[in-house]
Amino acid sequence: MPQLIVVDRKGNERTVSGDSGLSVMEVIRDNGFDELLALCGGCCSCATCHVHVDDAWVAKVGGPTEDESDLLDSSDFRQDNSRLSCQIGFSDELDGLKVTIAPED
Ligand code: FES
Repeated sequence: MPQLIVVDRKGNERTVSGDSGLSVMEVIRDNGFDELLALCGGCCSCATCHVHVDDAWVAKVGGPTEDESDLLDSSDFRQDNSRLSCQIGFSDELDGLKVTIAPED
């Protein structure tokens, strides 16, 4: 099972496992990080699943779609490495991916 490294808002880092085929948001949520609200349940309409992708992974993860990018624009904490975690499919190829939960808007 691929592993995901999650840094919470306090800076604590934890490595969790998640099934390939889930979204990164689902992996984070299913592992008890309640600060990732994911209010819309993953349909790209709330932006409460905002994460910053570790620089080493940005190229592999890729950038946001246009709709996702529009939503990210609503955040004060958007950075070049911002993604909505519900829009990143988790897979063996992303084993070891590291993301930081963005501050709450
Ligand atoms: S969970 Fe709402 S946009 Fe990702």
